[in-house]
Amino acid sequence: MPIVTQPCTAFAGQKPGTSGLRKKTRVFMEPGYLECFVQSIFNAIDGGAGKTLIIGGDGRFFNAEAIQIILRMAAANGTARAIVGQNGLLSTPAASNLIRKRKADGGFILSASHNPGGIDADFGLKFNGSNGGPASESLTEKFYAQSQTITQYHMLTTDDVDLSQIGTSELEGMQVEIVDPVADYAELMRELFDFDAIRSLLSDGFSLRFDAMHAVTGPYATAILEQELGASADSVLNAIPSVDFGKGHPDPNPIWAKPLVDLVMSPDGPDFAAASDGDGDRNMILGKGIYVTPSDSLAVLAANAHLAPAYAKGLSGVARSMPTSTAVDRVASHLGLDCYETPTGWKFFGNLLDAGRITLCGEESAGTGSDHVREKDGLWAVLLWLNILAKRRVSVRQIMEDHWQTYGRNYYSRHDYEAVDSAKADQMMSGLIARLPNLPGTGTGEFVVATADQFSYHDPVDRSASHNQGIRIVFENGSRGVIRLSGTGTDNATIRVYLESFTPKDGDLGADPQSALSGVANAIAAITKLQEICGRSSPDVIT
Ligand code: G1P
Ligand code: ZN
Repeated sequence: MPIVTQPCTAFAGQKPGTSGLRKKTRVFMEPGYLECFVQSIFNAIDGGAGKTLIIGGDGRFFNAEAIQIILRMAAANGTARAIVGQNGLLSTPAASNLIRKRKADGGFILSASHNPGGIDADFGLKFNGSNGGPASESLTEKFYAQSQTITQYHMLTTDDVDLSQIGTSELEGMQVEIVDPVADYAELMRELFDFDAIRSLLSDGFSLRFDAMHAVTGPYATAILEQELGASADSVLNAIPSVDFGKGHPDPNPIWAKPLVDLVMSPDGPDFAAASDGDGDRNMILGKGIYVTPSDSLAVLAANAHLAPAYAKGLSGVARSMPTSTAVDRVASHLGLDCYETPTGWKFFGNLLDAGRITLCGEESAGTGSDHVREKDGLWAVLLWLNILAKRRVSVRQIMEDHWQTYGRNYYSRHDYEAVDSAKADQMMSGLIARLPNLPGTGTGEFVVATADQFSYHDPVDRSASHNQGIRIVFENGSRGVIRLSGTGTDNATIRVYLESFTPKDGDLGADPQSALSGVANAIAAITKLQEICGRSSPDVIT
């Protein structure tokens, strides 16, 4: 079959963001667009010769078609073996696991994570390296450099590969292996957790609901929670993946997973509820009558991880992204563990995990994970929570109250302003950056600015530096506001404002978070001039 070489016209100079390249689906479908991005990746990794690559995605619109293109290009670029999830499906953590387990050279993960799917919604593609984690900053720069100069791509002209049949076939010299997307992942979870303890918790009548949000975790959750652990057959909601996620927004937060939150807040709701996102790397945790913020969840998992077999010997250290609350820092200091503060984006945890400096890490954006893979992992977080609940045999609420009574409570919330005019968002950010040196000492009452800066990260492993990673404003009373622009949106700019205040263990631990944070919210609003410049008086999404 001939290899055709086509010019790259539609695609030029596209820079991958926080998690690969995300664009409107129609942009990815423009002839040559996906192809030239994929070719720039092959060029950056010196082609496919001798390489094994994992390929799979979250099943959104264009997933299967894009995989056919990537397979034809992988073969044309000399790839030795492609391992593909059946029907093109692989959750992001399952793809990371397969890269590691099969000692692959990397993998293509097709997803726009929690963004909606469909021809008029979002699509995305990222490349993970041989450690199973998102491409490093330096590799991402190589993709970008290639994208600026690329003129042509290589592609076979062959029929589609049948993605529905498990087994191995050949595509012009490249082995194509179609695998069960769930089996290897389920095996890993079995190694990490005390499945017997969880089974007995569930058989004692503990009830749970897991909302797969019509996305990729449906088959994983059904196999593990219902079939293997014995949760009742109605435990997994919205379990069948669909190309447009049931026309929903597969983002596990109290806004987009409201039906689940309503259920768990009702008197006859389940004891435990959770949800995951489009590609299965995020999680939301709830207990009867209580929502657990992701920052608190990370802290609770760090404090209790030793109850699961994989972490029984303790943790080597922990890490959180800069905007994530400092609740986990308190646990780390109590346990005598190192605690690292990294920029937003999972790729920054990679070196720390590879070097064995940390075991657990997480982000405020519903991402938690450990050294078992190199991605955040939604179902893993659910299973660790269940393992802890099975061992402690108290309610989620009780776990949270115990935690706050031990460590104090970090009230925390993120306010998102979406689809803001990009020029105005940039104007607000650059104005604020210019004023940062003059902010300390200003403010009123309890809210006098102590320090104000832009976060820079110096990777302790490879010594690389990452600058301009968000604005931090810390007040003399210990409250904190962080402001940054999203790197994953596809519709103008998204401004994220992260708010945090700390109440010691003898203070009011049961306040409403938004009330507890109203003072710092007002102080940050006055400093940023967000309303004045961007014309927004209230956030679109509060988590
Ligand atoms: C968002 C989250 C970030 C996460 C990323 C990928 O990025 O804030 O924590 O790593 O999605 O899931 P952002 O849009 O803020 O750049
Ligand atoms: Zn995701």
